[in-house]
Amino acid sequence: MNENPIGQPHPRVDGRAKVTGGARYAADFNQPDQTYAVIVGASTGLGRIVEIDDRAARQLPGVLAVLTHLNMPKLAYGSHKGFIDPSYGERLHVMQDDRVRFYGQPVALVVAETQDHAEHAAHLVQIRYRSETPVCDPLDPRAEAIVPQEGREPGPHAADQVRGDPDAALAAAPVSIDAAYDCPRQNHVPIEPNATIAAWDGDQLTLWSKSQFVVNEQAEMAAILGIPAANVRVVCPFIGGAFGTSLRTWPHVTLAAVAAREVGRPVKLVLSRRQTFHTTGHRPRTLQRVALSATADGRLTGIVHEGTAETSRYEQYVEALTAVTPFLYSCPNVRTRYRIAPMDIGTPTYMRGPGEATGVFALECAIDELAHALDMDPLALRRRNEPEIDEGRQLPFSTRSMLACYERGASAFGWARRSHAPGSMRDGRLRIGWGMACATYPVFHGEANARVRLLADGTAQIEAAASDMGPGTYTSITQIAAEALGLPMQAVRFRLGQSDFPPTPPHGGSMTLASVGSAVREACLAVRDQLAKHGGRFDGVLEASATAGPDGQARQRFSMHAFGAVFVEVAIDPDVGTIRVPRVVGAYGAGRIVNPRLAASQCTGGMVGGIGMALMERTALDPRDGRPVNAHMGDYLVPVNLDIGHLETHFVNEVDPHVNALGVKGLGEIALVGVAPAVANAVFHATGKRIRELPIRIEHMIDHG
Ligand code: MOS
Repeated sequence: MNENPIGQPHPRVDGRAKVTGGARYAADFNQPDQTYAVIVGASTGLGRIVEIDDRAARQLPGVLAVLTHLNMPKLAYGSHKGFIDPSYGERLHVMQDDRVRFYGQPVALVVAETQDHAEHAAHLVQIRYRSETPVCDPLDPRAEAIVPQEGREPGPHAADQVRGDPDAALAAAPVSIDAAYDCPRQNHVPIEPNATIAAWDGDQLTLWSKSQFVVNEQAEMAAILGIPAANVRVVCPFIGGAFGTSLRTWPHVTLAAVAAREVGRPVKLVLSRRQTFHTTGHRPRTLQRVALSATADGRLTGIVHEGTAETSRYEQYVEALTAVTPFLYSCPNVRTRYRIAPMDIGTPTYMRGPGEATGVFALECAIDELAHALDMDPLALRRRNEPEIDEGRQLPFSTRSMLACYERGASAFGWARRSHAPGSMRDGRLRIGWGMACATYPVFHGEANARVRLLADGTAQIEAAASDMGPGTYTSITQIAAEALGLPMQAVRFRLGQSDFPPTPPHGGSMTLASVGSAVREACLAVRDQLAKHGGRFDGVLEASATAGPDGQARQRFSMHAFGAVFVEVAIDPDVGTIRVPRVVGAYGAGRIVNPRLAASQCTGGMVGGIGMALMERTALDPRDGRPVNAHMGDYLVPVNLDIGHLETHFVNEVDPHVNALGVKGLGEIALVGVAPAVANAVFHATGKRIRELPIRIEHMIDHG
């Protein structure tokens, strides 16, 4: 009898391939007779193209084509809204007209025999613009905040919500705070840049393309090109990190496909690091206000949470900015308000806990501010306001292990030894601060399909379109299949990342394990049934497919979220203002943990991302033209090894019978949520300085004057 593989800390089944170079990423799928394409991005932030001189580029040896809006084929751009596309607005129609909507928008494409030739020629394309001054700062008086249009998204999370009378509560309360928070635009900066290799065989298009959603990329490219979806195949077995930037299909994929058709040869198009800051989405800048009121003994009486996020002029990107506020705490009077500010920028997109990361930052900093105003321990304040049910939806939680997370995290961190007063902890010259914050993220679940083949040699092959951008999907799904089939891990092979495999939802929103895992489990159980009918014997191949989706009834009856508590220590040098994070302890209630090793690894990654969000990451725009000025890894700072201290993850035991048959809640996003406010709260505890703008930097720590 095999040990149940679920719950075992199996190493990554794809680990060897990754460390030996055997894993092939999009740009590794070089094709015979391949050519190279380089995008020319607009060097103005708003306006019209009035003249293009591409003679020098065309005359360069090795150049095969220069595409601009003047000679680009008119594309069908049939109606297509993927699960991850904004429901209101229309995607950028790349190089279909003379308008420049944001800095870096593709305005020309050079195709050449080598990457060097293509890059050289791209620099020779001369473009003259009639420029206007773009609006690219939500604080610009010309920026207007509007109510998002109704649609599939934003759904209930973005709609304004109110219960009770929060303004009266705020006015009447003995203690209240009212604060504004500013979270910057950020970019995903995964190691692997967005890349596509496009090849046509007659009317059949193959795209080896970095994608978190290969079936959507297939459907979208078919709609854009006006060809049947059956004629498009998208392949992406490995992803070098993505964090949301490869959920949508950005214009470079279209350009690669069109260029390959124009030159009649395969085209490889890899974005430069700088270009990934222009056209592959970003976390939108957000401005938020949180006002809280409480009784003198720390019972919340009122919460007002208002937020405005940037979007482009051509699409309304919305996210869950204020979504957690109605249910994170018990409070009779709550109002949330969410607005978007259309500006002359590219459309933002999902990034690492989209919405929750920034919304929880504001709310959890505000709770800390209230604790200080009440002269209460911030953890005690949170415990006092623990809700029995989701008071926003008036539904029980499927499970909510927040109190257990407080207990486990606080004990592992040693929170009881915290000295209460800000500025009261020292380590030699260093100011020490201990801060904490809550984390939460919804349990999403999308309908998914899977196929299993049982082979006569006793092994099984599983297929689902899916993706694995690093969380360990290859491994955890293999564990689920091995368990359902009663086979050892090494007898199961899971293949993913092809649009001709059974379709699955986007590899995002922390829903892959719940969604794909459920479908794979069903397919495995189905093939076992077949095997039983055959009396356990078969020749050749036994195959079964299955579809599994969310339990609609359970979703009506329960509020489903993962919860966690994050504890952070900071050490600040008072003379030079450097902020270090020696320790982070996170405790999570995330349902069943299929692989504790990979789950902890994912939380480590989330914490690193959270430290980046707290202390380093910000995409700065030149106000004159909206150009990202730090669009490279020298100046867009992300944590490196030396920035990371001790990171510790705990999972509280949580059995959730309602979320899905596997009992998993998803883990990708929650590991980042809560880290930045815990850092900010620790900085306050260390110094008494309340920094409400991210990232928190040296200049915030040093008093000038
Ligand atoms: Mo995640 S931001 O849904 O890739």
